[in-house]
Amino acid sequence: MSEHAVHPVPQWWAENALIGADEYAVKYRASIADPDDFWRGEAQRVTWMKRFNSVKNTSFDAEDFRIRWFEDGTLNLAANCLDRHLPAKANDTAILWEPDDPARPGRTLTYGELHEQVCQFANALRADGVKKGDRVTIYLPMVPEAAVAMLACARIGAVHSIVFAGFSPDALAGRISDCESDIVLTADEGLRGGKAVPLKANVDAALEKVGVRRVVMLRHTGKDVPIVEGRDVDWADYAAGQPAECEPEEMNAEDPLFILYTSGSTGKPKGVLHTTGGYAVWVSMTHEYTFDYRAGEVYWCAADIGWVTGHSYVVYGPLMNGAITLMFEGVPNYPDFSRFWQVVDKYDVATFYAAPTALRALMREGDEWVKKTSRKSLRLLGSVGEPINPEAWDWYYNVVGDARCPIVDTWWQTETGGHMITPLPGAHALKPGSASFPMFGVQPALVDPADGHILDGANEGALVILDSWPGQMRTVYGDHNRFIQTYFSQYPGKYFTGDGCRRDADGYYWITGRIDDVINVSGHRMGTAEVESALVDHDAVAEAAVVGMPHDIKGQGIYAYVTTMEDVEPTEALRKELVQWVRKEIGPIATPDVIQFAPALPKTRSGKIMRRILRKIAENDTGNLGDTSTLADPSVVEDLLANRPHVA
Ligand code: PRX
Repeated sequence: MSEHAVHPVPQWWAENALIGADEYAVKYRASIADPDDFWRGEAQRVTWMKRFNSVKNTSFDAEDFRIRWFEDGTLNLAANCLDRHLPAKANDTAILWEPDDPARPGRTLTYGELHEQVCQFANALRADGVKKGDRVTIYLPMVPEAAVAMLACARIGAVHSIVFAGFSPDALAGRISDCESDIVLTADEGLRGGKAVPLKANVDAALEKVGVRRVVMLRHTGKDVPIVEGRDVDWADYAAGQPAECEPEEMNAEDPLFILYTSGSTGKPKGVLHTTGGYAVWVSMTHEYTFDYRAGEVYWCAADIGWVTGHSYVVYGPLMNGAITLMFEGVPNYPDFSRFWQVVDKYDVATFYAAPTALRALMREGDEWVKKTSRKSLRLLGSVGEPINPEAWDWYYNVVGDARCPIVDTWWQTETGGHMITPLPGAHALKPGSASFPMFGVQPALVDPADGHILDGANEGALVILDSWPGQMRTVYGDHNRFIQTYFSQYPGKYFTGDGCRRDADGYYWITGRIDDVINVSGHRMGTAEVESALVDHDAVAEAAVVGMPHDIKGQGIYAYVTTMEDVEPTEALRKELVQWVRKEIGPIATPDVIQFAPALPKTRSGKIMRRILRKIAENDTGNLGDTSTLADPSVVEDLLANRPHVA
């Protein structure tokens, strides 16, 4: 790691940023010393229907576990994102939408127009019987209607569960049934990189496994798709004739806002549940401070709304702050590798926020694609979702940002609701690859993975958070026990992030990656258990073990060891079939990069698969496999080594 490459805070930033170095220090100390006082202040960013008295009522101790913020206050998040910006901002842009195909026209929605569309759609949902607390599944592409759908749910107190439009029908069905949702909002098709994504067909396939009462379908590409009478209705018809005003539901701060499924180290994806008041304060505060957001600037977070980054930093954070948020339907390499930077120029984007995987893919294509665009509007760059390697950081900084724009490398998780560890552009000198310092109110610590004791000073260990913050998830939907087990049992009294981390002598935090059985593929979380379970669902597969492997573009790739059924020949054709199978079962993001057929997997005498060894082989770090003496059959490892497929 290039610890020596330190970029001091540029003078403009030191002088003009919302948060400078001194202010960061003072505010951070205050946020820890007197959280009630600090958060009472920050909570003023919300227009409350009923003021809260209680600020923080939290404990991570098992006997007394509770996470409640602003618990006697009430608010409506959609009203906070829209109504209170009216009438002053009614004609100001809320959402800029850039389609997949640059030849097609984009769209602009003002705060007034967005308010009207949200109200109409909220009224339509209410008229259809959707009530406060009901779960609404959203399976939409990156179109403004996705934001309309989210805000309409928030307006009437329905809990949205967005399923990334790249997930398969099976994955969609699992999520619909887990949260017992009886309505799905979708589109005929999505468009990405010139290719159609058959969303309605996927919904129909999912609904063969789990029934719902209603499907509302946006006509996006105009594709002729089958319609189920009585169940399916056109988006336009659904909202037609609904009044343009809709009374917002009064929500308690701790009422659920949304569920978002994410992968863990075991079992099926968990429904991460976020509530209303704390989340609103958290995303508004972090969006403003991390991005130093200024009114009138165009802000672009390139994440899909199917991930938490899209929830917090395409929709809720920016709209809470009355920002102009750009929504991009397309991909970085279509029609060519200049696409991101052309969009930056087209809309004079000031802040650009994306995942390192996209940057690495573009970096590979050479600087010309970037250099032929201007990018002079850019003032700040952001990174999210995975560690950014110093090479990609340098490229982002020097080539994309012309050595002019600070980079905020934001570490956080679906569970944390918003940024937890990040440099602030006016406060911190940057070290490429380091997420740097904690956000206000966040108390990170490193613990010894073996015994859980807290490690001081420059050190490396498991990353935990010692106390609650307002944007924290509140439970796993329908399984509170799993919530406690997953996050608070390993190191009792502390929130365990699942990440490893190093702290250097200057106090900078460096995330080293997951230390549980979760891998990070192109900035997306994937449970190895999920891929294994998809593989063993195939008739030819007896057993499977999945680990991460280093991948130049994706960060981590998926390496699967597969033992076939006794009578099944492991052929090249089967390998291809299994790759397709996993894509179909979960979605293209779960595509295995390598499948190695193995007559047997390395197991301890008690039958536990030794993943450490499998990881080393996948990483091609086979010089030192460590202690293999506890293996039931050490020859298994020799076979794995001898038959390791050539990995490009
Ligand atoms: O391993 C960390 C990695 O992504 C995980 C969280 O994934 P997810 O819940 O899908 O949320 C992604 C978007 C916030 C973390 O446990 N991660 C996220 N951001 C960073 C990161 N790793 C290193 N540096 C980051 N900036």
